[in-house]
This record gives sequence, structure tokens and C-alpha cells, in this order.
Amino acid sequence: MVAQKQAPAPTRSTTRSLVVTPAVVAHRGASGHRPEHTLDAYRTAIRMGVDDIELDLVITADGVLVARHENELSLTTDVAEHPELAHHRTTRVVDGRPVSGWFTEDLTLAEVKRLAARERHPELRAHSASHDGVEGVPTFNEVLAAVGAEASRRGRTVGLMVELKHPSHFAAQGLPLVPPLLADLARHGLADPRSRVSVMSFETGVLRELAGLCRLPLVQLLEEGEGSPWDLELAGDPRTWADLVSPEGLAWIAEYADGLGVARSLVLPRGPDGRLGAPTDLVRRAHRHWLTVHVWTLRAENRYLPSDLCGPGGPEAHGGLAAEVRAFLAAGVDGVITDHPDHVVPAVQGLGTRGEVVT
Ligand code: G3P
Ligand code: CA
Repeated sequence: MVAQKQAPAPTRSTTRSLVVTPAVVAHRGASGHRPEHTLDAYRTAIRMGVDDIELDLVITADGVLVARHENELSLTTDVAEHPELAHHRTTRVVDGRPVSGWFTEDLTLAEVKRLAARERHPELRAHSASHDGVEGVPTFNEVLAAVGAEASRRGRTVGLMVELKHPSHFAAQGLPLVPPLLADLARHGLADPRSRVSVMSFETGVLRELAGLCRLPLVQLLEEGEGSPWDLELAGDPRTWADLVSPEGLAWIAEYADGLGVARSLVLPRGPDGRLGAPTDLVRRAHRHWLTVHVWTLRAENRYLPSDLCGPGGPEAHGGLAAEVRAFLAAGVDGVITDHPDHVVPAVQGLGTRGEVVT
């Protein structure tokens, strides 16, 4: 979740977090260990001690929110092996790009419930892939029930950072995401700012809509590089990702959002040799607007680590993620979103109060 803010402490050599202890957020559950967006992935993350679960939502033809990263289902389920669903295979233009496969918006919930979840990266995550086929695709309602039950079992509260995927795309098909989001949250008593639920999107319009409808904390996701939020592009608004992290861009975001969720390179770029570079000033500038900053996505495999933190072994071997986490904490971030909470929770627990890094 986006935690309650505190006045920033005086700055010494590093930027300070706005929160007492930066949050560890499990990306799609503990997705380095279980097929992403399964109830087992979320429960595993809670067992590992995360503060929050990050989950992506898309919608079925009959208007039910389900937990998937893409509306195209073949990368993380066995949909291609269901002959009875073959007639749904098609090509759609999603956020301006043609994509072929099976789309949630073409399948009813009953059809989605025939599918088995699979590991996205079996070549990197063989242990996770050994859980292929054990679970199906959960609805948002089922996720809320399962996370609540697991947190209660462990005597804790666990927050949710809920990402709305492709809101303009779905709305254009008569499947807006906001009404079922608020209805599902209300059913669980969670449509309340004290509920530890925040809502994120790469699009701006859906967050601005939510700002007028509820008091949940809202997080603007930001990419690096070329391109722009799809809703701005659709509206003919020329602003790019780079414009949104400019001083004017951050001031605009602060009018409707409470935090940023940023690609890690916007905080700690890597050099041409792949090593971690010096922090940018983004965290400091965001904090001046009282915007919290979460970074995504930290992963333990050598394939994803800075070159100076890779360990022995191939791309699937785990290297020095804890050191990368400490670098982000020293840069003042308020949360880290990770596939490997087992590496990140101990690294964050090595902090003193107010973001001091204890070496
Ligand atoms: O939480 C933000 C992060 O999840 C955004 O990236 O592509 O993994 O949804 P993605
Ligand atoms: Ca996401």
C-alpha cells in the first residue's frame, strides 16, 4: 500500500523515505517462486513477510475482474491446449499494438475457470514451473478473500497494490474496470482509505476518475524511455513519460495521485557496462510534492541484476539482490516491488528507523 506520509527528515548525503520503514511489495505474489497471480503465489508472499501484494486486474466478457498481467492468456495459462476454446483465438489491437491469442474480454468467467495457471519463465524458474497446473486463474473477489484469510491466520494485515490494466481498451468495449473494482472492494469492506488498498495504473485518466469517486490512495505508474500513457495518446495529448517526470509533470500528478510507481532505472540508472549508477533526483523531487515512490521490479536472477551484483552461475542463478535493495533504500524510495520477497524482506529489516541503512 501507499503508507501514511511523514515529514521528510533533514537530508544528509542521501534522500530519505517519506515512510518510517519502506514497504516490501510482492510482485504478482511471490512470482519468483510460484506461477504468478495464483493464490499460492500470494500466500507464499505473505509467509515470506511482505507488507503488500501487487496484483494486476483485467476483465472477462461477463464483467468479472480476474488477476492476470495481460488480457491475452497464453503466456501464463494452458489456454492453447483447450480445443473447446480454439474459436476464441483472434488478433486484437491492444493499446495500439496488434496481439494474437485468447483474450479475457472474449471469454466468460466460466471459460476462464477451465484454465490452469503456468510459470511465465520456466527456463529461469524451474521450481515455480513444478507448480504448473495446480491452480487456475483467480477472480479479484477470490484474491481478496484469500489474502484476508492468510493475513488473519498469521495475525497480520497485508496491503494490496492493485493495478488496473488497459482501462481505456476495456472501457471502449463496454467493460469499464472502475465499477467492478469498487464493488468488489466494497463487498470486502475495503473501499476505504484505511483499508491498505491502493490503486495503480500506467494510464492517467482512470486514476483521475477514481480521485473523484473514492479516497483510496492512487499511484501513477511511470515507464522510462520513449512513449506515453495510452490514454494521453488516445486523447491527442503530446505528453510523454519524460514529460511526466519533469517538474511540471510531477506537479500535475500530485493533483490526483498520492504516489509514483516507477521503473527502477528512473531512480538508479545503469551504466553502459550494466553496473548500478548514481541515483537520479526523481525521489527527492517527488517527495517535495508528497508523492511516495515505489520502484519495480527487483528480481534475484542474474539475468535481471546489475552486472556488478551478479553471482556465479547462469542467468537463472540468484545473485546479490539484497545489495541492490540497499542501494534503492539509500536513494530514499518508499517501497520496492519484487518477485523475490525472501531476498528483500531481510534486506529491508536490516534498516534502522527512518530509512537509515545499517551496514
Ligand atoms: O507495480 C508496477 C509494476 O507491476 C508494473 O509493471 O508490467 O509488471 O505490471 P508490470
Ligand atoms: Ca503490475
